[in-house]
Amino acid sequence: MFESFEKLPDDPILGLTVAYNEDPNPNKIDLGAGVYKTEDGNTPIFEAVKKAEAIRLETEISKSYTPISGYAPFCERVQPLILGDSHAAIADGRTCAAATPGGSGALRLAGELINSWKPGASLWVSSPTWGNHTPLLGQAGLNIKEYPYYDRASHGIRFEEMLETLNGLGPEDVVLLHGCCHNPTGADLTEEQWRAVAKAATQCGFLPLVDFAYQGLGDGLAADATGVRIMAETAPELLVSYSCSKNFGLYRDRIGALLAVTGSGDAAAAALSHMKVNARRLYSVPPAHGAFIVATILANAELRQNWEQELEGMCRRINDLRALFADTMKKKGSPVDFDFIKGEKGMFSFLGLEKDKVRRLRDEYSIYFVDNSRINVAGINPGNVDYLTDSILAVL
Ligand code: LMR
Repeated sequence: MFESFEKLPDDPILGLTVAYNEDPNPNKIDLGAGVYKTEDGNTPIFEAVKKAEAIRLETEISKSYTPISGYAPFCERVQPLILGDSHAAIADGRTCAAATPGGSGALRLAGELINSWKPGASLWVSSPTWGNHTPLLGQAGLNIKEYPYYDRASHGIRFEEMLETLNGLGPEDVVLLHGCCHNPTGADLTEEQWRAVAKAATQCGFLPLVDFAYQGLGDGLAADATGVRIMAETAPELLVSYSCSKNFGLYRDRIGALLAVTGSGDAAAAALSHMKVNARRLYSVPPAHGAFIVATILANAELRQNWEQELEGMCRRINDLRALFADTMKKKGSPVDFDFIKGEKGMFSFLGLEKDKVRRLRDEYSIYFVDNSRINVAGINPGNVDYLTDSILAVL
C-alpha cells in the first residue's frame, strides 16, 4: 500500500505553524492558525482552566469510559452557554448535546448524522468558508455547494444574493452558517440578517447547521450568540457544532459539542441516540479532560467570573490590534485602505492580497498566513507591527 502513496502537501492552515516553528528568522511572524497569542507570542492557559485542572487532579477517582455522548455535566452546561439560560427549547426538553473531539469532531459528527438521514445531501457553505469545511464534511458523504457570502471588493456581505440562494433551497438541503467571527473573513451577519435567514429556513425547510467556534471573541459571550439564538427560536430544527478550543483555550485537549434543537422531547431523545451510534462508529468515546474543565468552570461562580473576564480581555485586545494594524498602515501611507478590518469580528480578516504576494511575504519576510490572505489578527502585537506593515507595504 505505502509504495503506492505519494507524499501529500502539508495542511494549508496547520502546516503553517510547523513551517513557522522551523523558520530561524528572528523577525518571523505567525498569523496562520486561529490561535490566540499574547504580546510575547505565547498562547496562554486561562487561569480558570489551571484551577479547574487542579480540582480534577484532586477529585477524579476513575479513568473509566464516559458515556458515548461524553461527560454528562458538560453536555448539560454547554447548552445554556450556547442558547442562553432561559431558552424555551432547553426547558421543554427539546434539545440534546454530545461532547465531541473539538469543534471539528462536532462538525464531522453532524456530517455523519446528516448523511445517515439523507445520503449525499447537499450541504451549502459560504463562499469562502473555513478551508477544512469541505474536506471534513465532503468526506462524510455530503455534496458540498456554495452560497454567495463575501464581496472582496467592498469587504461586505453579498446578503441579497445569499438570501436569494437560500430562498431557493428546500427540505433536502442543509445550510452551514458561521455563528460569529466568520472564518476566514471576519464579516458577520447583522441581527436583522440572521432574522431573515431564520425566516428562510422556516419557509423553505432547509436544516441550519451553525458552526459556533469563537463565542466570546467577537462582541462578547451573549452578543456572539445572537444569531444562533435567533435560529433556535425560529427554525423548526437546528444543529450547532460548538468548539471550546478558542474561548477556553483548550485547543489540544479537543473538546467541543454537537447540539440539536428539535421539535419535541421524543425527537431530542432520538437525535441523541443517532449521535451516539455515529460517534461510536467514528471515535467511540470523546476525550473527557476538557469536558471536565469546562463543566467545572461553568458551574463554579468564581471560576466562571474569572474565565469571562479573561475572555473579555482577549476580545478587547483583538479589537485593539485590528485598529493598530489599520492605523499603522494608514500612517505609513498605504495605497490600500485597511480600515475595513476594524469593523470585522474575531481572529480573522482577509487582507485581500493576491497569492503571489502572500507567498512573497512568507518566503522573503517570514510572515506566515493562509494563501487566501486570511490573517490571524491575534498574532499581531506592538512589537511586530512595524516589521509586518513595512513588509506588506514592500510587496503591495
Ligand atoms: C483555523 O481556522 O485556523 C483554526 O480553526 C485551526 C484549524 O483547525 O484550522
